[in-house]
Amino acid sequence: AASAQDGGGRFAFAQVAANTKDEVTVPDGYRAEVLIRWGDPISADGPEFDPETLGTAESQARAFGANTDGMEMFVIDGRIVLAVNNEYANTRVIWSNRPRAKPADDDDIAKAMMAHGLSVIEIAEADGGWRVVQDSMLNRRITPQTPMEITGPARGHDLLKTAADPAGVLVRGGFNNCGAGRTPWGAYLTCEENFNGYFSAADRAYEVSPALRRYGVSARDWGYRWARIDERFDVSKHPNEPNRHGYVVELDPADPESTPKKRTALGRFKHENAEVVVNGDGRIVVYMGDDERGEFLYRYVSDGVYAPGGETAMLLEEGALFAAKFHDDGTGEWLALTPETTGMADLAEICIHTRLAASAVGATTMDRPEWVALNPKKPEVYCALTNNKARGRKPNAGGDETPVGGPNPREANKYGQIVRWRPAEGDHAADRFEWDLFVIAGNPAVHRGANAGSENVNEGNMFNAPDGLAFDETGMLWIQTDGGDPEKRDFAGQGNSQMLIADPATGEIRRFLVGPKGAEVAGLCWSPDRRTAFVGIQHPGGEGGHWPEGGDAPPRSAIIAIRREDGGLIG
Ligand code: FEO
Ligand code: CA
Ligand code: CA
Ligand code: CA
Repeated sequence: AASAQDGGGRFAFAQVAANTKDEVTVPDGYRAEVLIRWGDPISADGPEFDPETLGTAESQARAFGANTDGMEMFVIDGRIVLAVNNEYANTRVIWSNRPRAKPADDDDIAKAMMAHGLSVIEIAEADGGWRVVQDSMLNRRITPQTPMEITGPARGHDLLKTAADPAGVLVRGGFNNCGAGRTPWGAYLTCEENFNGYFSAADRAYEVSPALRRYGVSARDWGYRWARIDERFDVSKHPNEPNRHGYVVELDPADPESTPKKRTALGRFKHENAEVVVNGDGRIVVYMGDDERGEFLYRYVSDGVYAPGGETAMLLEEGALFAAKFHDDGTGEWLALTPETTGMADLAEICIHTRLAASAVGATTMDRPEWVALNPKKPEVYCALTNNKARGRKPNAGGDETPVGGPNPREANKYGQIVRWRPAEGDHAADRFEWDLFVIAGNPAVHRGANAGSENVNEGNMFNAPDGLAFDETGMLWIQTDGGDPEKRDFAGQGNSQMLIADPATGEIRRFLVGPKGAEVAGLCWSPDRRTAFVGIQHPGGEGGHWPEGGDAPPRSAIIAIRREDGGLIG
């Protein structure tokens, strides 16, 4: 309800001002507390995090991973369980106790490796807050060494066969898991994004195949040095290993012994999240972004239909893949990726070289599609297009030209936008849709025109780099950002990365939270009673930050629990 006291408008809180503090800022009347940090043990016998050594590979494998990202809440036999992605390890943080923040030994490399993957933790309410249930049988770490089954059309394909797995059916890891999703049958979906950054070649002159180059694989990794401790990451020796990563992985959080399943039917690219929709006819539709400049937006439609309590095993194994084509007149279509349309040999190859398949059909190159979210109140889907400094200038390696147009209206797009589409007749399996831009981010304090943003952006609520999107059950859209450096003029006045709430009907946007220095706000879910919001704070510590402990403490990514002091509903 609107009132002068709460700031007016649709939302029952006063907007948080942009700031560059090294803390989490929430509205008056709210409180944020840390639930779990990188390195906190998730089992009762795990050692406490040591701020001097920053742990070992062995301790890290039993502790909460680094850089929390997508997460989902599950209620399993009355227990509240969080499944959380630990996207990557910031090597400048995890090796910050070493000279020049380099690994001192192989255990340092393995420690950073073990900080990747995901964490499953049971949590419970206690003393007005939340705590991790450290002795829960459901707690689990999944790391880059956890065995995973390859399912779907690409299972057993020649391109997936390696020395360690000559049948192409079983792979270890699980790394760079970014966004998330959930199925109506209670599974967690974790999405493999920048898998390329972990591969290297001992021979620096080694040239990867064009198909691997399209995914950014090269003879140099991003500084992780995994090939030094695990030869499969040397792409010159095991050129098929990268083909085994870049998928959506299904995990049963209720069974800690279960083997996660790589769902190749959902395609291989730099997956952001997986938004699962039960279509009107019961088919499962999954919307997915490929977060890279000039890459695409995808849709999967299952062959079978979902029925509560019915068989679900094949719903993410057998289906059709599509890539989005946006027209300038506000219409769009889903282009089927089939052997006929792409010229590829079979569906397996399409599911492995999905980017190449989407290029072949002429899908629309996008400004880095991040999270996709379905409006629970109507058939309308939103996707954050985070930014694209190269829009109009140069394509992704081996990719397509990226002309300005459609939902990507600005050259050298610094701020990002959110596109939304409505499938024809409300049918998510329909081939046609209509689209518009819900918001074009910008900075009206610095720019006029296109870089000032759309009408629902003003100097009070402005932001950049929309990334995480999630609807709450009341139909409000929450937007999380992975923003630019607030010291730079283009981002002046916008402060640290943040979380905002938006009303899809009116377009109104209000800032709810500001993260600490250098951090990104990544991951959002709610307690079953919606009186706690769990929010991820990823890669704090940039720009000299030491969140959450402050002082000289190592910065630690963490999940925070946000509640209203009067116990009311969030938002
Ligand atoms: Fe891991 Fe595209 O964010
Ligand atoms: Ca993201
Ligand atoms: Ca991002
Ligand atoms: Ca990130």
